[in-house]
Amino acid sequence: MTEQDTFTKVDRDAFTHEHLLGIETLSAEEINIILDLADYYADRLDDRAFKPNILQDQIVLTLFFEDSTRTRTSFEMAAKRLGADVVNIDLRTSSLSKGESLTDTIHTLHSMLRPDAIVVRHSEYGAPSFISSLVNCPVINAGDSWHEHPTQALLDALTMRRQFGDIEGKKVAICGDISHSRVAASNMILLSKLGAEVHIVAPPVLMPEKLPEGCATEQIKKFDNIEAGIKDCDVVMMLRNQMERMQAGLIKSEREFFEEYGLTKERLALAKDDAIVMHPGPMNRGVEIADDVADDPKHSMILEQVRNGVPTRMAVMDILMKENT
Ligand code: NCD
Repeated sequence: MTEQDTFTKVDRDAFTHEHLLGIETLSAEEINIILDLADYYADRLDDRAFKPNILQDQIVLTLFFEDSTRTRTSFEMAAKRLGADVVNIDLRTSSLSKGESLTDTIHTLHSMLRPDAIVVRHSEYGAPSFISSLVNCPVINAGDSWHEHPTQALLDALTMRRQFGDIEGKKVAICGDISHSRVAASNMILLSKLGAEVHIVAPPVLMPEKLPEGCATEQIKKFDNIEAGIKDCDVVMMLRNQMERMQAGLIKSEREFFEEYGLTKERLALAKDDAIVMHPGPMNRGVEIADDVADDPKHSMILEQVRNGVPTRMAVMDILMKENT
């Protein structure tokens, strides 16, 4: 497919889901539909004159029940680049704290704003799916508890694809707090579906017993030693320890964690020469990643991931909101 043709030739009708609640229910073909379109938007991101306006007169509502900087801003930017109006509601300090139920809050906002899509982040597993049952517009999961964070996995895949051309056969190490990370879960599902060899690296207390639903399990290998896990990998993806979801005392100290599992220059040298380093952010320097690795201009793709968040979310909104355009 030439660059020129991508926008019109992407078969939006082959994407059959009304919502984006996770990667679990997507086929490899559907993932590639999103990535092809995201790639098209990524090529044009720096062109301020590129204003497709396909979501003109539409309203995107972002509902964040949990902290977020980059994800919420990235969704807002993506919606605006497509011409939509955006209403951001921070529900950490809302009527919910006055005892209103989630159902009443959603019904109230839906009735007031008549949104054409809702982006939700929530600390409860499955909240976006529950909300999708209450409304008549697409719902996009921006992270629910340790369950899924589908647009993060999609933007990570876009970053890998733009770097290497293809994901199939690539060796990707995902390292750190695997058991509490929705980023790890969505990435394990997506990367294994697209045929990558996925190494999950964690201390035994942070390694899940069961892999997330939807993984191609034969593509995933577990390691409790970071040196063995990242050896010869094309991608080394580091994760933040999710202290907000972790039982107290699981990790001895940050210093010891860094000594055993932190990504240092010496450890990175075990991966392929052209390996890339990724992190969804926010990073804890000196805990899971050394400063000089995070800032390494040759290997670190961390800011490129942030950049790729915008075209990825443009593609997701374009595809899900196609009925209305
Ligand atoms: C992640 C999240 O919120 O799950 N951050 C993000 O969306 N970029 C990862 C994290 O908080 O560690």
